[in-house]
Amino acid sequence: MLILAFPDYLSQAQRLADRLNAPLAEVILHHFPDRESFIRLPPSLTEHVIVCRSLNQPNDKLIELLLCARTARELGARRLTLVAPYLCYMRQDFANQPGVAVSQRIIGKLLAGLFDDVLTVDPHLHRISSLNQAIPIKNAISLTAADEIGLFLKQKLDYALLLGPDSESEQWVATIANKIGFDYCIAHKERRGDKQIEMTLPDNSLSNKPIVIIDDMASTGRTLGKATRLLQAAGAFDIYAVVTHALFCDDAEAHILQAGIKAIWSTDSIDHATSCIELDGLLADGIKAII
Ligand code: R5P
Repeated sequence: MLILAFPDYLSQAQRLADRLNAPLAEVILHHFPDRESFIRLPPSLTEHVIVCRSLNQPNDKLIELLLCARTARELGARRLTLVAPYLCYMRQDFANQPGVAVSQRIIGKLLAGLFDDVLTVDPHLHRISSLNQAIPIKNAISLTAADEIGLFLKQKLDYALLLGPDSESEQWVATIANKIGFDYCIAHKERRGDKQIEMTLPDNSLSNKPIVIIDDMASTGRTLGKATRLLQAAGAFDIYAVVTHALFCDDAEAHILQAGIKAIWSTDSIDHATSCIELDGLLADGIKAII
């Protein structure tokens, strides 16, 4: 078995390789001036190759994954496993208007055609219950970082009320809260545009206790920013956030910090200054379960 890591996921892949006691090789990647991608793999590969890369900034990365997977097959890989802790294009899961591309299904089929196994962490599954409805292969594995996040929170705080910013987040918030014995509540959110959020907080008492907002990802940061402002208005002052996937596009992090949050923590699914919850143990166990 060989771990093949893209440069943007190298340190996490190295920790995964150490846990699996497997060799690691880096994918050589170059972007030409017109943004075409050049990929080079080690000329000889093992039968089982595990390709590691999170799929934030997805449009370039999906093309590079296609080049990598097809080249790996040409070089003799017979079993190809994708470890993509952040999985892109999972949010558009139905055609909300005639003509809309259901990108979850389309990208899912693309990945199913390239890989024998796909492992990811806390994918944004809303209207479907299992990952292989989106990626139609047997080993489409959805892991959860709930244990890692719960353990981290327990070490940081004696007690906190966990807040899910919308109904979709309840799946993660409830699991984490139940694991560590913290209470949780769920806000109501409506997204009116990429950066326009309407939110109503639940009726719970929110003052005089630390509050941790939990979500699967922060993209524009508007969800966390709005929740923080509303919580402050409701009398909360120790407000924190944990997200599994730190996408943090453009001014997202600054926007959340300006809202007055005390700290933002994330897993290392994507390299970011907030990444402090490591996922290599979870991913290694996930791989061991399928080989
Ligand atoms: C949405 O349903 C997700 O769970 C997140 O709440 C959302 O993607 C966060 O996006 P943003 O940071 O742009 O508000």
